[in-house]
Formats: sequence, C-alpha cells, structure tokens
Amino acid sequence: MSTFVPDLLHGKTAFVTGGSSGICLGIAEAFAAHGARVMILGRKQEKLDAAVASIRSTGATADGISADVRNYEALEAAFTQTAAQFGPIDILVCGAAGNFPAPIIGMSANGFKAVVDIDLLGTYNTCRAAYPHLRKPGASIISISANHAHQPYAFQAHVCAAKAGVDLLTQTIALEWGPEGIRANVITPGPIDDTEGIRRLAPTPEARQNAINSVPLGRMGTKQDIANLALFLCSDAASLISGAIIHCDGGQRLNTGRNLSLAWEASRK
Ligand code: COA
Repeated sequence: MSTFVPDLLHGKTAFVTGGSSGICLGIAEAFAAHGARVMILGRKQEKLDAAVASIRSTGATADGISADVRNYEALEAAFTQTAAQFGPIDILVCGAAGNFPAPIIGMSANGFKAVVDIDLLGTYNTCRAAYPHLRKPGASIISISANHAHQPYAFQAHVCAAKAGVDLLTQTIALEWGPEGIRANVITPGPIDDTEGIRRLAPTPEARQNAINSVPLGRMGTKQDIANLALFLCSDAASLISGAIIHCDGGQRLNTGRNLSLAWEASRK
C-alpha cells in the first residue's frame, strides 16, 4: 500500500541558486514545505528578501544570500555561511540563469558570454564551491537545463550553448563524485508559465499560444510540475538515479516531428 509522505526532506539542508523567483522559488518553497532548511542565493536583495519572508511565513526555516554565481569567491563565502548556519548541504539546486532573445549577429560577444557565464560557469562555480560542504555520502545535485540543450532554437544561441554544457557538466559530476555517494541529475523544463523566461520569450498572446501549441500535452508547465520532479530527485525515492537528464516538458522536445506531421495533415485539407 502506498502512503503519502508529507515530510520528504525533514532535517535536510538545501541550497538553491536563482531561488528568488520563478521555477527555483517554486522548488525552494516545495523543499521548505517538506521540512528542509532552505538557503536561497540570488542577485537582487529585494527579491531575495521577499522570497525568504514568504517561505518563513509558512513556519519553515529559510534564509537568503545576495551574490552573483559568476563570482566564485562570493559562492565560497555563501557555502561557508550556509554550513555554519544550517549544517552540511544535502541538496544543491543550480538554477540561476539568464536569457534574452537575440539573433547571433544581434548580440555582442559580451552578451553571449553573459549568458554562458551565468548558466554554465555559474553551475560549475556553484558545484565546485559547494563540494567541501556537501554531505558525503547522500548529497543530491540538480541542475536546471532546458530543451535548448538538445535542439537548436533560433535567437537562443547563447542559451543552447550554455545549457548543452550544463547537461554534460552535470553528468561529469555524477561520474566523478558518484563514488563518494553524491548524485547529480538534470531537470529539463519546457515552457513554464508565470516565469521571467516565458515573459521574455513569449511576450504577446500569440507567442504564448505558439508556446502552448508546441507542447503535445497542450499546456505550459507550472512551477509545481518542476518542484514535484525536484522533490522526487532529491528524495531517497531516487537513491539510484544519477546522471539522468529528465524532461518535464509535456513532450515539447518532440515537437519537430510533430510540427512536420501537423504540416502534412494540413496539406491534405
Ligand atoms: N539583446 C542583446 N544584448 C543584450 C540584451 C538583449 N536583450 N540584454 C543584455 N544584452 C547584452 C548587453 O548589451 C551586454 O553586452 P555589451 O556589454 O556588449 O553591451 C551583455 O548582454 C551583458 O549585459 P548586462 O546588462 O551587463 O547584463 P548582465 O551581465 O547583468 O546579464 C542578462 C544579465 C543579460 C542575462 C539579463 O538578460 C538578465 O538579467 N536577465 C534576467 C534573468 C533572466 O533572464 N531570467 C530568465 C532565465 S530563463
């Protein structure tokens, strides 16, 4: 008989980058609701304070550190503080990301670098700086990637390049740190409603509808969809899962083939 477990992460410490808003705030809230102590790292103090206050208002334990994942020394200090405050880190979520739509010739080298530095170098910096403070054995790392890692998206060259790197970096971590009992997995969201990413990439009702149409299941994801997967991946229920890239996208990654089929269907009418 299966039983509902309301306290999946009781007593654990979670560290979530990019957790001030969007998908990663949803993850931080879910972790806190399941009994974890949550440290959120974000760039903007105001958003960070609001996120921490909102989680604390539920009675959960949370705090925030303002830092940029491009700054390795700042991350080292953040992990030292977290370990002193909350103990060894059981769960690490690398979610800080940047994005703006632009053609390759419409972005400067520095624009390309900004996204690669936040997404890819930021994930490296986070994992590398966290390493001495991770609980071994038992820690679980989750990187937030995107379907961009697996197929090209026009006007998203920086994100495609960065997320492809995030996937392979995370799998390499799974290989190198697995013998110490550390798991590392990738979550690949499709379009997720009510996030900064979707506001930037689908700013009009038409663009929103296109995004929805690209999903075989016919809806955008919710932050809860991603939080549910994160909860599973860092719980004991996933103790043998490492190096996995798990799509939570309603099948959107399959849409090249689906679009071809829809075009063929339309041509017969
Ligand atoms: N189009 C073209 N280039 C852009 C751009 C846009 N919309 N937005 C930023 N850039 C370029 C800047 O011009 C700059 O390059 P330059 O020095 O050659 O002019 C470079 O990117 C860095 O810009 P900066 O303003 O210093 O940003 P940043 O280093 O703080 O990086 C970004 C942040 C660029 C990722 C920004 O888009 C951001 O903060 N996004 C919010 C988070 C987000 O996107 N979340 C959703 C994730 S899915």
